[in-house]
Amino acid sequence: MHHPEFPLADDLIYFNHAAVAPWPDRTRKAVAEFAEQNARYGAAFYPDWLRKETQLREQLQALVNAPSPDDIALVKNTSEALSFVAYGLDWQAGDNIVTSNEEFPSNRLPWESLAAQGVELRQADLHAAATPEDALFALVDRNTRLLTVSSIQFATGLRLDIERIGEFCKRRSILFCIDAIQSIGAVRFDVQACRADFAMADGHKWMFGPEGLGVFYTAPDARDRLKLTQFGWHMMKDTHNYENRPWAMHPAARRFECGSPNMLGIHALSASVSLLLETGMEKIESLLFERMDYLRERIERHPELELRSPAPPALKSGIAVFKHKKIANPALYQYLMQQKVICALRGAGIRFSPHFYNSPDQIDRALAIIDRCPA
Ligand SMILES: Cc1ncc(COP(=O)(O)O)c(C=O)c1O
Repeated sequence: MHHPEFPLADDLIYFNHAAVAPWPDRTRKAVAEFAEQNARYGAAFYPDWLRKETQLREQLQALVNAPSPDDIALVKNTSEALSFVAYGLDWQAGDNIVTSNEEFPSNRLPWESLAAQGVELRQADLHAAATPEDALFALVDRNTRLLTVSSIQFATGLRLDIERIGEFCKRRSILFCIDAIQSIGAVRFDVQACRADFAMADGHKWMFGPEGLGVFYTAPDARDRLKLTQFGWHMMKDTHNYENRPWAMHPAARRFECGSPNMLGIHALSASVSLLLETGMEKIESLLFERMDYLRERIERHPELELRSPAPPALKSGIAVFKHKKIANPALYQYLMQQKVICALRGAGIRFSPHFYNSPDQIDRALAIIDRCPA
């Protein structure tokens, strides 16, 4: 039985939410209606669109428990938001940044590029200490200005104790930046509980949105420490006063949105996030964890499969990575995709990332397909 919001093809098993998720039915409808409206009326209803933009910031505020919608900027993607932080802060030669050595390139390249300014990027081996957090803390010294990590690692599903890291950073006045793309929409994520200065995520994974529109949270003090790196009309305080000279910067996070908003993406993401909020993140998380527990158990009991994700995870995520003892990862991946089990080849093996609406029966079917894969 399909979830009514996910009319995916019957013969398809979609376990790739850690890459790009399918759209819920309400998102398909919102986009179709927006297209129809554009074709028939152009932008005659622009005031409604502006209301939708405001509504999306409020929805995202609720989703990450930000103190105010003013703390939310709508950005192109995670990489853009990370670059806003990397190029917004004032660095001194000799400063360092602490991260892990498992980060997705989006959370490595911007920081690495600061080497030109004499800033060092320290990449912890998360398995080199008693806990992954301890491995990060071990690299921190007096010159550490910022700690940046993915809350959930894309290639293993390892989930960090971000509340513990946030606490550590606050005590030492180190800025804390979180690439939350593998968390928001999958698990409960609270920017206040983890004391994040900056957190960002694109909408196309666990939030079920389209690619190209993401959320960028900035705590007010931290926000004021970022100098601006992009400029345009939309970031003015007096936004629609185009004769406004000299202009003042918008006090809210909107200062990071330099020009015309991605209205198509806004209509889509707002519909997608409404599903998360209506269902409730507590329920979504618990349904996802039930599925993940079952998936892990099936993999662990399977004589030919080896789970490569950290176990037993005190902190659960929506990502499980495994390999077959007799079939090479690329061959198994090809076979699964051919059999319409949509998944990814990442890190040490095959990555399955189901979401709350997937059924346990689909897990059984995917495992049965693996058993039919020619060795
Ligand atoms: C941890 C992590 N960060 C960032 C991204 C993608 O970033 P962007 O939103 O810039 O495409 C991914 C996508 O796979 C990811 O897994």
